[in-house]
Amino acid sequence: MNHRNSEAKEVYDWDYLVQPQRVHRLVYTDIGIFQEEMMRIFGGTWVYLAHESEIPQPNDFKTSQLGHRPIIILRDRQGKIRALFNRCSHRGATVCREARGCKTSFTCPYHGWTYSNTGQLKGVPWAKGYGADFQHSEFNLGQIPRVDSYRGFIFGTLNCAAPDLLTYLGRAKDLLDQWIDRFPNAKITVQSSAHKMIYQANWKFSYDNAADGYHVAFSHRSLLAVANRGESAKDMQYFTHNPDEEPMYVQYLGHGHMFIDQRPSYTKKPGAYWQQQRPQPGREAYEAKIREQWGEQADYWLDLSVGSQMNLTIFPNLLIMGNQIQVIEPLAVDRTQVTIYATTISGVPDEVNVLRMRTQEDFPSFGIPDDMVNFTECHRGLSIPELEWVAINRGVGMSDRHHLDEDGVLTGPVTDELAIRGYYQEWKRLMTANLELTAQT
Ligand code: FES
Ligand SMILES: [Fe+2]
Repeated sequence: MNHRNSEAKEVYDWDYLVQPQRVHRLVYTDIGIFQEEMMRIFGGTWVYLAHESEIPQPNDFKTSQLGHRPIIILRDRQGKIRALFNRCSHRGATVCREARGCKTSFTCPYHGWTYSNTGQLKGVPWAKGYGADFQHSEFNLGQIPRVDSYRGFIFGTLNCAAPDLLTYLGRAKDLLDQWIDRFPNAKITVQSSAHKMIYQANWKFSYDNAADGYHVAFSHRSLLAVANRGESAKDMQYFTHNPDEEPMYVQYLGHGHMFIDQRPSYTKKPGAYWQQQRPQPGREAYEAKIREQWGEQADYWLDLSVGSQMNLTIFPNLLIMGNQIQVIEPLAVDRTQVTIYATTISGVPDEVNVLRMRTQEDFPSFGIPDDMVNFTECHRGLSIPELEWVAINRGVGMSDRHHLDEDGVLTGPVTDELAIRGYYQEWKRLMTANLELTAQT
């Protein structure tokens, strides 16, 4: 059966809850709204599922969630990428309990029904117990009807009326291209041994924060102090002295996507990125090897080992930051898992990938916990019923702070809250749209 508009549409006054300059605390704390989000936001729009490099061969799979729906993302025997609902057609048990692997079929652990990895029911134990009219084809696994990928990034949606994936990505597509094409002809591999962190607060605090250039100097003060300790390390210092005067900027890209570009804060001189890198364990040894092997080209390779200086946020759950891919998984209204995947690239000296791993270690270890503490404390603060509003009005009505770039994208100084305001309009659209969500069987 399809999920149509639920009664929540009538229960909540969405225009009251999401206003142009402020958002009601219930948007972060109300269980009913959270349940609607899991259906509508994580069903009604394209949601990031996995990277193709995580399931490189036929029959590879990984398990994940679409909102709260357990799913299996896989390549079938023919190599076709599918997203099956991890839900037995017999009595509903999950048929796959492993995080990842390689299998041509899944046997439900409860009563042993077996499905091929195309989702078809292949057999049931002691089949004579069912009548002659038992049709296997009526009991296939459900699957996400629309699955598509762009340059390795796999997305899926239950909304057959959603625009195609490229239209949905829109301006974010060009930025994704820029992120990938930093490494000409290189293949990007997402490393599956990821950092996983859980914080006690709503998932949207993470999404807001991805386009928040306002908090850095305050939330990450200790990290910036560490970065400044090295003689030449000045990483992220441009966030500390009125970042609005820096050339970096924030953009609202449409369809809920957001972007912070720190690249203009660097000179284009080779080695500039590298010289601003925070101190890293073992850095000198790897740097020496690269310099010895590559001579004048060494600065180029060293720059590629540093983050991309791009924060590209694809609504609702994918954050591409530096060299990392972060995925937001809402667990409950006040509980969220963030998984941080490192990436490696082909065709570069091994030392470059080792340094990328060192970069992977430092922000998740020293930066993200700063943010998560603040998310948790925001959620605690928003428990006060008498104080209703969350302000997202920085920059509102100040047209001199904003401009449209050459593609007509709204752009402003990096501390502006324009991108958060923008994505909330998309959020509200999905929460109130006439969606018809479908599982394919
Ligand atoms: S619930 Fe899967 S076989 Fe019974
Ligand atoms: Fe942060």
